[in-house]
Amino acid sequence: MELPEDIDDDTVADVADRHGTPTYVTSAATVRDRFDRLRDAFPDARIQYAAKANTNPRILRLLRERGAALDTVSLGEVVAGERAGFGGDEMMYTSYAPSPDELAEVVDRGVLVNVDSAGQMETVLEAGADRVGVRVNPGVGAGHSDEVVTGGKGARFGVSPDEAAALFERAVGAGADPACLHAHIGSGFTEPEPLVRATERLCEVVGDLPVTPEYVDIGGGLGVPYREGEEPLDVAALGEQVRDAFNVDATLVVEPGRYLVAESTVLVTRVNTVGDGVVGVDAGFNVLLRPAMYDAYHAVTNLSRDFPVAEYDIAGPICESGDYLAHGREIAKPREGDLLAFQTTGAYGFVMASRYNSRPLPAEVLIDDGIELIRERETVEEQFRNVKLD
Ligand SMILES: Cc1ncc(COP(=O)(O)O)c(C=O)c1O
Repeated sequence: MELPEDIDDDTVADVADRHGTPTYVTSAATVRDRFDRLRDAFPDARIQYAAKANTNPRILRLLRERGAALDTVSLGEVVAGERAGFGGDEMMYTSYAPSPDELAEVVDRGVLVNVDSAGQMETVLEAGADRVGVRVNPGVGAGHSDEVVTGGKGARFGVSPDEAAALFERAVGAGADPACLHAHIGSGFTEPEPLVRATERLCEVVGDLPVTPEYVDIGGGLGVPYREGEEPLDVAALGEQVRDAFNVDATLVVEPGRYLVAESTVLVTRVNTVGDGVVGVDAGFNVLLRPAMYDAYHAVTNLSRDFPVAEYDIAGPICESGDYLAHGREIAKPREGDLLAFQTTGAYGFVMASRYNSRPLPAEVLIDDGIELIRERETVEEQFRNVKLD
């Protein structure tokens, strides 16, 4: 699998020398390229990057400069957006079971909230919102694994179409503008069909609302190839089919996270131990959770040598027998000190990292005009900064 644009073995070695490992290394050119592809596919849409995939404010700023708006799920993501320069009107907030205090704070910052319960609607109106959105379950779900399907039967996200109409009525009655009908069906589908079906369904729902909202947000979920030879989602075809299905007088919003950032990034990790068929590296599920959490596949390469090739499991340093980043991979036979690169780690990589085993959070680097450190590695001591002993 090819490395992202502007990232090669020498760049990575340079990053590791300067900033250590494990480190997430992101190509600005690849992020821009994916945004531009999406813009070409959806020329008139509001492209609203789902910050949850990668919240580093430097990457958010890069996307904002390209013309992206921002979808957030927490006050933390709203603050990350503000740090990156997003105004309240350039962000939406779509969360499950947020606290009333958090909702009030988000409304106060001028961010449009997509509610998904009658209680949330009341809280948002009480907080003085003059615009509000409603998240609906369009009855369609899709995703790379059950954990990430968020629409269809049994999903806990979004209200029914009837309830959406009632919540629109409620907003109008309270003098607020019901400005958005929102849905998100799941994450990581690689065919246009589910999103096209959801778009059709959303347009039907709009027909039954008391007013047509300014925005109809069809959510994200656009998948990317993780394995060599996997067919990428045809975003141009997706754009065409969604635009054909979109027959309401509203601004179309697409809300991808993964698609915009996943392929831009490699996780660079150093080999600390080489055993018989197993190699131990300095990144485990504390740094990259997806393999342990979803049994996800990330292609891996030994950047330090090309041959001879042998098959290895790649284990992290966490004291759990399940701490593997990969199983049975053919890589150039590693030696201690070698650098390995895990690919396609720009989405749901750093943001899902933890301090488990009291290992500090990794560093993040952006390759744009040279090597830019965009998040310093946390120090061991910094992990304990909020601890009170007396
Ligand atoms: C409301 C909402 N929008 C957008 C996304 C982005 O999904 P993806 O990164 O798969 O595009 C998610 C992901 O969980 C989401 O919950």
